[in-house]
Amino acid sequence: MPEVLVTEPARKIRSHIAPVRSHDPGHAMITSTRIARRVRELGRQISNVYAEIDTPLVMIVILKGATVFAADLLRSLSIPAELEFVRAASYGSGVNPGALRLAHMVDGPLVGRHVLVVEDIVDSGHTVNAINRRLRSMKPASLRLAALLDRPARRAVKVNIDFVGFAIPDRFVIGYGLDYAGLYRELPGIYSLG
Ligand code: IMP
Ligand code: MG
Repeated sequence: MPEVLVTEPARKIRSHIAPVRSHDPGHAMITSTRIARRVRELGRQISNVYAEIDTPLVMIVILKGATVFAADLLRSLSIPAELEFVRAASYGSGVNPGALRLAHMVDGPLVGRHVLVVEDIVDSGHTVNAINRRLRSMKPASLRLAALLDRPARRAVKVNIDFVGFAIPDRFVIGYGLDYAGLYRELPGIYSLG
């Protein structure tokens, strides 16, 4: 049976997100077109780096913000890749930003596997630092990091980012998976909030 396509009514825009929705693409900090081009480049670069490995790459996506980037990045790879997810959560009130626990961890063993962690944005560096520490203890053959955005202004711990999409100024950003209070992840471009 062929798939039957029906026209759905346009989704109603909720009033609290209207201000961001009304931005035309020219006002995006990074437009969806630029993101798409850069993600394809990263995909090529990553595929070249891992061209000779003899097991599929393990892409480990940090929930939730990196899911949109990871979905596009995965489809720009020309090498086999598996997909895993981890979730970091802060302890308590966040007085100690370094205290992160992992609320979800990868399912299988990583011993001898080539692992690429995929993150939306590296800010202080605490999140990827804590995740990498745990992943390293699982003895992968290699461990690299791809981050769509790098905001170096507020870095608190040293992080080596192997594949960076864009370095951005010290502004809070939303869109393309990045949220503010759980919202705006659906925006196709990246916007600065204030
Ligand atoms: P870090 O641990 O300070 O490096 O923060 C990284 C995490 O904070 C990312 O995984 C994001 O989920 C979140 N984050 C940091 N900056 C932003 C931002 O500008 N917009 C949305 N999320 C952010
Ligand atoms: Mg995140």
